[in-house]
Amino acid sequence: MTASQAACLRAALQVGYHLLDRGSSALVAVEQTIRVLERSGLFNAGTGAHLQLDGVRRMDASIMEGDSLRAGAVASIEGIVHPITAARLVMEETDHVLLVGPMATKFARHFKMERQPFTGKPRRFSYETALRKTAHNRERHGTVGAVALDRAGTIAAGASTGGIDRMLPGRVGDTPIIGCGVYAENETGAVSMTGLGEGIIRLAVAKEICAARLVLQKLVARIQGAAGCLVLTPQGRFTIRHSTSHMMAGYWAGRGIPVVKDTFR
Ligand code: GLY
Repeated sequence: MTASQAACLRAALQVGYHLLDRGSSALVAVEQTIRVLERSGLFNAGTGAHLQLDGVRRMDASIMEGDSLRAGAVASIEGIVHPITAARLVMEETDHVLLVGPMATKFARHFKMERQPFTGKPRRFSYETALRKTAHNRERHGTVGAVALDRAGTIAAGASTGGIDRMLPGRVGDTPIIGCGVYAENETGAVSMTGLGEGIIRLAVAKEICAARLVLQKLVARIQGAAGCLVLTPQGRFTIRHSTSHMMAGYWAGRGIPVVKDTFR
């Protein structure tokens, strides 16, 4: 983790904490925390999102609230700074859960969402080479996420990503799929995932994660997946687990300096 990433994580944690402390909902705290990370350009989300093999930046995000079980998501959205806010708008302004591709981008434009100055430079690629390239193992992820519990006892979870290295155009990972990349339910907890989406989707990890360590072990043993997660229980107990070699993350209870590290064992 670089010094600027650590500083950005601390700033994001403080933004979320202060919102909760002033009585904001968990949903707002999660959205605003993730917006800090998306805007920074320091992580694989928002202005720092990876490019797909055709040179275009397509992003995924989702958010879920654990009282009403409302959720919103966008996949393969282009050209905006804050996909997490687009996901929240899908949740609050439509009857749907997930909008994808150019129509998700059009939806964001309808709400005049802030645009990214650089969204990628389209380039030619061949499927023949690309299919060989995508077969390699990947360790660099950098999806951003947050979980929060508010004064009313409601929890929320969110995540935002530019996907993974060397992905085919149009590839979508776990992040916008409710129950896979993100899940929140007041009775059971809130989970936000990072890691290789292909494995996380196949085990629908976020919804199954109550026993976090066991599910991550299964992910590694059964399908050679790699992932990390933020888990928050309705009682406010919190854990960070990962089967990846590292996971930049942190937590803060409002006193001293927020804790940020890149391994949690
Ligand atoms: N977990 C992010 C992705 O696989 O796209």
